[in-house]
Formats: sequence, structure tokens, C-alpha cells
Amino acid sequence: MRIITQLSLLASLGVAASDVHPRTKAAPKCTSPASTLSLTDLPYHNYFYSDCNVAAQAVVTTPQPDSDLSIIGPRLIVAWPAGDSGACMFFEPHSSANGTLAIELVNSTIGTPLGPVYSAPKSPSKYPSVGIQGVLRLNTTATLNLSILGSIRTIRDFVEGPSLLHPEFQDTVKFTSDNTGVSLQRTWLDNVTTTNLKFKPFGNSSSKNNGQVKLANKTITFEAGDYILSADMSYPQLTALEPKSVLNAASANLTTEKPAQTAALSFLSYSEKVMAGAWRFFTYFGRDSMISALLLEPVLSDGKGSAMEAVIGAVLERVNRTDGTVCHEETIGDYATWINAQKNINSTAMGCDYKMVDTDYFLPVLMERYLVQNPAGKNRSSAFLNTTAGSINPANANLTWGDLALISSERVMRLARPFFLNQTKANLIRLNEGEVVGEWRDSTYGLGGGRIPYDVNTALVPAALRAIGTLARSGLYTKQRHWSTLADKYAKVWEDSTLSFFAVEIPKEKAHSLVKSFANASFPGPDQASSIDDDVYFHAVALEGGNNLSKVEVMNTDDCFRHFLLNTTNDAQLTPFLNQSANNIKRTFPAGLMTDAGMIVANPAFGEDPIYAKNFTTGAYHGTVIWSWQLAMMAKGLERQLDRCEVESNLSITSRIRGHQGSHIPPVPAFCTDDYVYDNVKEAYNTLWDSIEANADQLSGEVWSWVYRDGKFVTTPLGVLPAPPGVGGQTESNIRQLWSLTFLAVNRNEVYR
Ligand SMILES: *[C@@H]1O[C@H](CO)[C@@H](O)[C@H](O)[C@H]1NC(C)=O
Ligand SMILES: *[C@@H]1O[C@H](CO)[C@@H](O)[C@H](O)[C@H]1NC(C)=O
Ligand SMILES: *[C@@H]1O[C@H](CO)[C@@H](O)[C@H](O)[C@H]1NC(C)=O
Ligand SMILES: *[C@@H]1O[C@H](CO)[C@@H](O)[C@H](O)[C@H]1NC(C)=O
Ligand SMILES: *[C@@H]1O[C@H](CO)[C@@H](O)[C@H](O)[C@H]1NC(C)=O
Ligand SMILES: *[C@@H]1O[C@H](CO)[C@@H](O)[C@H](O)[C@H]1NC(C)=O
Ligand SMILES: *[C@@H]1O[C@H](CO)[C@@H](O)[C@H](O)[C@H]1NC(C)=O
Ligand SMILES: *[C@@H]1O[C@H](CO)[C@@H](O)[C@H](O)[C@H]1NC(C)=O
Ligand SMILES: *[C@@H]1O[C@H](CO)[C@@H](O)[C@H](O)[C@H]1NC(C)=O
Ligand SMILES: *[C@@H]1O[C@H](CO)[C@@H](O)[C@H](O)[C@H]1NC(C)=O
Ligand SMILES: *[C@@H]1O[C@H](CO)[C@@H](O)[C@H](O)[C@H]1NC(C)=O
Ligand SMILES: *[C@@H]1O[C@H](CO)[C@@H](O)[C@H](O)[C@H]1NC(C)=O
Repeated sequence: MRIITQLSLLASLGVAASDVHPRTKAAPKCTSPASTLSLTDLPYHNYFYSDCNVAAQAVVTTPQPDSDLSIIGPRLIVAWPAGDSGACMFFEPHSSANGTLAIELVNSTIGTPLGPVYSAPKSPSKYPSVGIQGVLRLNTTATLNLSILGSIRTIRDFVEGPSLLHPEFQDTVKFTSDNTGVSLQRTWLDNVTTTNLKFKPFGNSSSKNNGQVKLANKTITFEAGDYILSADMSYPQLTALEPKSVLNAASANLTTEKPAQTAALSFLSYSEKVMAGAWRFFTYFGRDSMISALLLEPVLSDGKGSAMEAVIGAVLERVNRTDGTVCHEETIGDYATWINAQKNINSTAMGCDYKMVDTDYFLPVLMERYLVQNPAGKNRSSAFLNTTAGSINPANANLTWGDLALISSERVMRLARPFFLNQTKANLIRLNEGEVVGEWRDSTYGLGGGRIPYDVNTALVPAALRAIGTLARSGLYTKQRHWSTLADKYAKVWEDSTLSFFAVEIPKEKAHSLVKSFANASFPGPDQASSIDDDVYFHAVALEGGNNLSKVEVMNTDDCFRHFLLNTTNDAQLTPFLNQSANNIKRTFPAGLMTDAGMIVANPAFGEDPIYAKNFTTGAYHGTVIWSWQLAMMAKGLERQLDRCEVESNLSITSRIRGHQGSHIPPVPAFCTDDYVYDNVKEAYNTLWDSIEANADQLSGEVWSWVYRDGKFVTTPLGVLPAPPGVGGQTESNIRQLWSLTFLAVNRNEVYR
């Protein structure tokens, strides 16, 4: 990180990089061997390559017999986390029908299948051009008609949107050919960085597949055969965290116990930031990285240059200095220059999307976990917060990360104050005007049109306030010492007075009739009405929904945020809250959230308006589907609540008394001694874990769905189910998503079995 930072600062002062960094012709030798990972999810083959000079992913798509040929064609993507950049190539069979061309990357003397590419810096770039190469096999004559070179965002505009192509990118690709092969080169809008693709016949004597490649008028034609593909670019690379430097010392053995997950975590982790997913989200996302860090904290590396500091530092660097909002997604590299140019700004500076309303609240919670609770973080706290911002986000020059943390916490305090003073709905946190999304259920129907989200108001705000109180008491907010007591006063009100706005209570008989009519209309399996032995109680996923609904009466998993983030002390509220959560987890859909495929994140069966069932479907991103990290957070959250009982029961009478004399021993929540509720929570914990274990193969995926067949919920990829009406096509999922690796740190606690 330091080297890149210095170089870019010096570059902006007009000092040549060669003055500080001797130019090397050959690739610098790496002290550790390259890391590679191959993951197949047909029709996609994913290959990752990382060494000390470059990190990149290649995704090869080749149609399968059951592929929809209007959507799936032969395609090759190379993605670099550096600059969120990439190159995308669409191949077609030259003279035969779709489906007759197969493409693959094969093992060779060049790589297995990927090897590194390195070429020394060429003016005006100060950086070497780095990437990957490998042997590409085409089984029939093919053409390459369309290539997109530059940013992943430009590629996503084409593959996810209505096939958008921007002339600023497409018309600036230079095609050349010589007797060795065909090359494509594009200089980025920064006038410095280049992306290069080269195809040449693989002239290895052991290969029988030596074909020819020809260029005619921007169309490249390949005979069937093997070609060396090399893809490289000259944007400054990030500093990869190897598997052993992503994990703390106590968790080092995870690299041998769970090598696939730790390798995936490592490919997403750099000392500058931790990426949300590969290949589509190969860059900073605030919510994803902070939720992941909160769940993974027990195993993540800490201290200078660690994974924990990469996450928190990246968030602080990107805070809006004016109003303290935390950045949701960054725009960097070529796409940032393009966005700036559209605003008539001549700049390569990164930009941020600040539209989410939940992300601000995760920051103090994560800071408290690391800078106060974690001994290594606590040692680092003053040096870490004294880091000068601006090296990545020039807008924050002249501030320290500590200044930005304070500005962001000031925002939380400011937004929390009105409800502290007067507990009305009008004083709850709402989505921003004009935005349909604002928290993790960020798809068209994720909140059913709701404006006031449940998770933010009942869990994230009070958790952030509790954390701010602790940070202030630990001396990290010396300019706001009064927060030491004020933040907790705010928190208590937000903890105790928000749930009631969202509460939905349905008498038993009514609940029976609702699940029966839901099953009749929308679900082919049993209605499970007989499992409802009491009134149904849950919390609306949001208030002020579409169709003028005052509450979006969709049962959901967002209780997990309170379980995981808060130790609430109002027993009259906590005991029934835990009990309803346990009931809803234990009951099978449509009576509750459980299915054979895992716990679903939303259940519309109790909403009377048919709009619920229409929008919260098995094909909706936040519908009746299963998200890996929600399983992890619910499991860990229930465990944390059960742990609150454990601490006390282990204490002797004397320490119990000491507890009352002002030591740090918290009071035992009343549910711990309510056998019915305690056992119910424990049962829900075990039901959930049985289901997590039964679906172990899915856990590294982001989200999955199910079909009901032969009396069972059978797991199916979300991408193969139709999206709900009004939502564009299904999107391709990321083969690895950061927050789906959290089971590295979340394990079943056998004490509660
Ligand atoms: C053939 O593939 C191309 C590119 O993938 C696609 O645009 C076209 O719709 C396909 N044609 C048919 C008949 O499926
Ligand atoms: C190439 O592979 C495709 C897909 O497997 C297949 O349909 C086609 O027959 C193959 N072509 C040749 C010439 O082998
Ligand atoms: C390619 O090489 C890798 C690494 O040696 C190996 O794991 C993989 O099985 C090989 N693939 C094929 C198709 O031989
Ligand atoms: C790149 O060069 C063009 C043409 O000279 C110029 O208009 C543009 O402002 C330059 N962009 C940057 C970011 O330097
Ligand atoms: C090349 O493309 C241009 C513009 O699309 C066209 O006018 C020209 O005829 C093409 N040349 C050949 C040799 O196909
Ligand atoms: C891995 O390390 C942890 C913590 O040190 C230890 O509890 C566990 O038994 C170890 N596992 C193996 C297989 O060595
Ligand atoms: C930062 O916040 C201010 C105040 O809300 C706003 O005007 C500005 O546009 C924000 N900055 C960015 C880059 O969005
Ligand atoms: C844009 O800025 C670069 C330097 O950052 C400068 O070389 C270039 O001339 C500028 N272009 C315009 C159009 O002002
Ligand atoms: C903070 O960093 C600055 C240099 O950036 C240094 O002068 C100062 O002593 C540091 N303060 C602390 C408390 O470490
Ligand atoms: C940082 O300070 C310098 C010198 O005081 C000033 O020129 C510059 O505009 C400041 N940058 C920001 C982003 O405030
Ligand atoms: C709280 O807000 C309500 C609704 O706006 C208002 O009627 C009431 O007077 C307020 N109470 C206080 C104490 O400000
Ligand atoms: C909740 O209490 C437990 C002890 O029972 C403690 O370990 C944990 O850190 C507390 N969590 C929060 C968010 O305060």
C-alpha cells in the first residue's frame, strides 16, 4: 500500500516514478509461490491467479447442451481488482449455428491454465503492464466481433443492462496484426493506462492444434485450434493478502482445514481494501465488507497491514467529509474518469455512491469491535486513526481517518437525536427521497416498496449508538467527550421504542386461514397450518410499503441484526422477541422461514394483499430465497443471546454479588430462567444449524433458491428461475462473494446441542 501511495502522490507532483523505483525489465521475483484457484459453475469456468506482481481472474463461458443460446454464448472475461478493470471478449461460431462453438482454457507449458504476464513500464505509464496468459482452445472456426477493454463497470453495462456500449470506450480500441498474431489495445481516458489483448497461434511442437488467426476490419477470425491469449494492463496493482496474512495466527490452520474458502477470501483481500465479490463486484462495497468483517473478526488478521485494517481503513478513506455518509460503492479507474468527464470534470479521481442509509451504522460497530475489543486493534488505535486520508480518495485530503470517523459518528448522533427526543414514526430513519433501495434488501421488491426499514431502525441505529458510547469512553472521540453518556441514552430509547412500530400480531385462527389461502394460490406443498399453535408474531420488513400498505407484512430474518449486534436489557421486550424469532425460524414455510434448502429471508404468506405473494417469489433476489450470510448472522446472533445466560450460570455466588457492586458482570436476561423460551431459542439454534449442515455445499454461494418437488424443497440456482414481473433479466451471480465466506468463523457451538 505504501509504495503505491507514494508513487501516486509523487506522480501528481511531477516526479518520475523511476526516481524512486528502479525500472525493472523482468518481473520482480516473488518470495511466495503464486496462488491459483479453479472453480466451475457451469456454464462458467473461473480461474484465479495471484502472485506478488498481479492478481486476476479469468471467466470462460461455454454453452452447455441445456443453455439458453440467446443468453449464453462463448465469452471470455479477464478481471483485475486493480482499478476494477477488465477485458471481455464475445466469440461466435464463424459459419455455424449458436451452440456449435466451445471455448476453453487448457493447461499448457504457459500456465495451468493461467500464467503471469509482465512487461516493464512504458512511458507515459509509470507502472508495468501485468496480467495473465493461457492457451485458449476453440473447437471450430470462430470470430471475435466484440471486445470491451477497460472497466468492469463498462462490461457490466453491456452484460447486465440493455447491452449498452459507449463509443468513448469502443471506438478507441486499436487493432493490429503482424506475423505473430493479432493485438487489441486501448488507452484509457486517463491517457496513460493501456489494456492489451494478444492472440497468437500456440506453436508448441507437442500441440496438434496449431491454428491461424486473422484480422479483417476489426473482426478477428480464428481457425479451430489453440492460441496463446495474453491480457495485461498498466494500472497500479493492489497489495494482495496471501492466505496466511488474511488470517490471524490462531486461525492459521484454516488454510489447511478449509483451503478453498481461505483461498477465495485471499483472492478478495488486499491491504488497501477487501473486495465484495468476483468478478462483478471486484471492488470496495461498504456494507458487504463491514458485515463480513464483523462475522469474520475472530479469524481475520489484525494489526498494521491486516485484513481488519484494510476493511475499516477503506471505509474511513471514503467517508463523505461534508455530511459523514459512508460510501456504498466506489467508482474507480477508467469508469471514474468517464463519469467525471460527463460532468465536465477533467479528472481521474474516484467517486462514491452514497445512497444507502444502513451503511453508516456498521462503521462505529466495527471500529468498536476492532479498536476497543481486539487487543491488537486497541494497540494500533491512535496510529491507525492518525493515518492521513486522501491518497486514494483525494476529496478527503488534509483529514485523518480519525477525523472522518468522528464526522461519520457525528452524523449518526445527529440522525438519532430526533427520535430520542420524540418517539414518533416521523423521526425514524427513512430511505433517501427518490431511492427505492437503501439497505441490504436492495432490489426492486426487497422492501416491498417500504420506506422505513426494520433492520436500520431497530438494530443498526442502537448498535451504532452503543458503539459510539464505548469509543468515546475509550478516549477515541476526545472532541465529543459527552458522547460517553449521551450515546447510551440515545441507544436505550432506540432499543426500547422502535420494535413496536414494526410489530405484526396475527391471531392463531387468522394465521391458519392466511397460510391456507397462500398455499392454495401460490405454493404446491402443505400449508403447515397445524404447526401454528399460537398467535403469530413477527416484525414487518419495512413501514410505508407500496399499494399504500402501512406495514410491509413480510416475515423475515432481519431479527438477526438485533440478536447479533445488541444486548438489550428490557426483559419485557427481549423475552417475547426471542421467542417469536425462534418460532418463526423453527416453523416450515409457509408457516415460518424454514425449508429443506435453508432458512428463507422473506415469507409473504401472512400478508393479505396478493401483491406480497406476487413480488416475494422464489425468483426474486430478496424473495423466498436463502442467503448464506443471513444464515451465519442468525446462527451467531442466537448463540450470542444464549451466551448471555451462560456467563452468569458459571459464576459463583460471590462473583454474582460482586456483579451487583459495579463490576462489569452484566445482569442475566430474564429469558435465561424462563425454561420455555430458553429451550425454544436453543431449539431454533439447533434447527438452524441442522439445516446449515444439510446445505453445506451451498454455503460459499451468495444466494440460492428452491423448487418444491416430491414433497421436498429442492435447492436450485436463483439464476435459472424467472425474475418477478417488472424486474429485468436475472443477473449472473458472482462465483465467490465475500460475505458468503463467513462460515470460516461461524461454527456450531456444541454446548447448545
Ligand atoms: C446467437 O448468439 C448471439 C450472441 O450470443 C445472440 O445475440 C443471438 O440472439 C443468438 N441467436 C439465436 C438464434 O439464439
Ligand atoms: C464443439 O463443441 C460444441 C459444444 O460442445 C459441439 O456442439 C460441437 O459439435 C463441437 N464442434 C466440433 C467441430 O467438434
Ligand atoms: C490443470 O492443472 C491443474 C494444476 O496442476 C490441475 O489441478 C488440473 O486438474 C489440470 N486440468 C486438467 C484438465 O488437466
Ligand atoms: C486526455 O487527453 C485528451 C486529449 O488531449 C484531453 O482532452 C483529456 O482531457 C485528457 N484527459 C485526462 C484525464 O488527462
Ligand atoms: C470495413 O468496415 C467499414 C465500416 O463498417 C466498411 O465500410 C468497409 O467496407 C469494411 N471493409 C471490409 C473489407 O469489409
Ligand atoms: C486449529 O487451531 C485451533 C485454534 O488454535 C484449534 O482449536 C484446532 O484444534 C486446530 N485444528 C487443527 C485441525 O489442528
Ligand atoms: C457529500 O455530502 C454533501 C452534503 O450532503 C453533498 O452535497 C455532496 O454531494 C456529497 N458528496 C458526494 C461526493 O456525493
Ligand atoms: C486534463 O488534465 C490533464 C492533467 O491532469 C491535462 O494534461 C489536460 O490537458 C487536461 N485537459 C483539458 C481538456 O483541460
Ligand atoms: C500523527 O501523524 C503526524 C504525521 O502525519 C505526526 O506528526 C503526529 O505526531 C502523529 N500523532 C500521533 C498522536 O501519533
Ligand atoms: C488541503 O490543504 C491544501 C493546503 O492547505 C489546500 O490547498 C487544499 O485545497 C486542501 N485540500 C482539501 C481537499 O481540502
Ligand atoms: C412529538 O411529535 C408529535 C407529532 O409530531 C407531536 O404531536 C408531539 O407534541 C411531540 N412531542 C414532543 C414532546 O415534542
Ligand atoms: C453482549 O454481552 C456479551 C457478554 O454476555 C459480550 O461478550 C458482548 O460483547 C456483548 N455484545 C455487545 C454488542 O455489547
